[in-house]
Amino acid sequence: MSDEIKKGLLGIVVDETEVSKVMPEINSLTYRGYAAQDLCAKCKFEEVAYLILNGELPNKNQLKKFENQERKERKLSNTILQDIKRFPKTAHPMDVARTVVSIMGLEDKETKDNSIEANMRKVMRIFAKTPVALAAFYRVRKGKKIISPKKNLSFSENFFHMCFGKVPNKEIVKAFDVSLILYAEHSFNVSTFTARTITSSLSDIHGAITGAIASLKGPLHGGANEEVMHMMNKIKKPENALKWINKALDNKDVVMGFGHRVYKSGDSRVPTMREYFGKVAKIKKDKKYEKIYDIVEKVMIDRKNIHPNVDYPTGPTYHLMGFDTDFFTPIFVISRITGWSAHIIEQYAANKLIRPLASYKGNKHRKVLQLNQR
Ligand code: SDX
Repeated sequence: MSDEIKKGLLGIVVDETEVSKVMPEINSLTYRGYAAQDLCAKCKFEEVAYLILNGELPNKNQLKKFENQERKERKLSNTILQDIKRFPKTAHPMDVARTVVSIMGLEDKETKDNSIEANMRKVMRIFAKTPVALAAFYRVRKGKKIISPKKNLSFSENFFHMCFGKVPNKEIVKAFDVSLILYAEHSFNVSTFTARTITSSLSDIHGAITGAIASLKGPLHGGANEEVMHMMNKIKKPENALKWINKALDNKDVVMGFGHRVYKSGDSRVPTMREYFGKVAKIKKDKKYEKIYDIVEKVMIDRKNIHPNVDYPTGPTYHLMGFDTDFFTPIFVISRITGWSAHIIEQYAANKLIRPLASYKGNKHRKVLQLNQR
């Protein structure tokens, strides 16, 4: 066996998947064979969630049934509601998401049942309740009353309703839906691989998703959308952008929202999200972030040939929608629950314990001295 190390599993193919693929021939991320941008143009988020979880796009009846199940499962237990009120208001909402999914595992009567049917029911509960719990925390930490979910609202509309007490115009909801579609799935990224690794020991779905949330939080992964906003806030105004980004590159800083392990000449989700970012900026009559965006992007490509990833346009888009910056990655979570779940189910169906090797570079063998001899 070769001892060649592939740090970060760079370029290593570890398993098969039917969930998604970046198809070079159409230069696009595809879910179950459909291009993500095609899905953005023709579907709402719930249709894509159904596709990722079930393998096919739903017909009208299947979609209605799926939506009804999701809406029925939105209600939180009293325990979780009371816990959310007790969480420190300074807690990062990603830690709230992780904790709430973990508590759901304590409460779920089917936690131990790893059959596909039970897992699909648990997925629906996690999918429906996590955004509701996050929106509740959004309100509680501002000292505001929790707003109950509404069954006549879509997944995206309900999230706005519960965070802000109102649903914005259709274009804003569509832009949010598009961001969820683009965030829903991306093959063996860090958090999905975490979920699959946890699943490979035949642990449970709540544990796998809890671990995936912790993994997504990091700034090199999902946490980048929050870091992008911190960067734009530091830049403050378009006039400062050129100097700021050149200095960052002179200092060899990592610029958040740029670069990708898989895409080397551009993340195929970016053009679609960039378009919707522009639409939201127009509605909000605020072009500042777009101007900063364009200047930083141009320098990154000209000087480093490094292109933006999807977190670059989503950050300022969520800001313009009115979300607090530390809610950007939790929004990624409420969408990616679909991708994680599809992978968890796929892992159970053809499981092999994930257990790589390491090249040892520690001490040679040595004898233990008694305590009084050391
Ligand atoms: C996501 O994989 C997925 O699918 C993830 C995701 C999903 O949908 O699940 O797409 C979501 O996580 C997007 C990535 C979000 N992260 C960031 O935006 C953080 C900033 N980007 C990086 O740190 C970096 O590009 C990574 C972590 C995304 C990718 O890292 P790699 O593949 O390990 O590459 P690397 O860090 O070793 O970089 C290679 C070179 C280095 O230069 P050299 O040492 O070879 O001279 O490119 C440079 C890096 O310094 N580089 C950057 C850079 N990204 C790469 N330089 C400055 N700024 C950057 N952002």
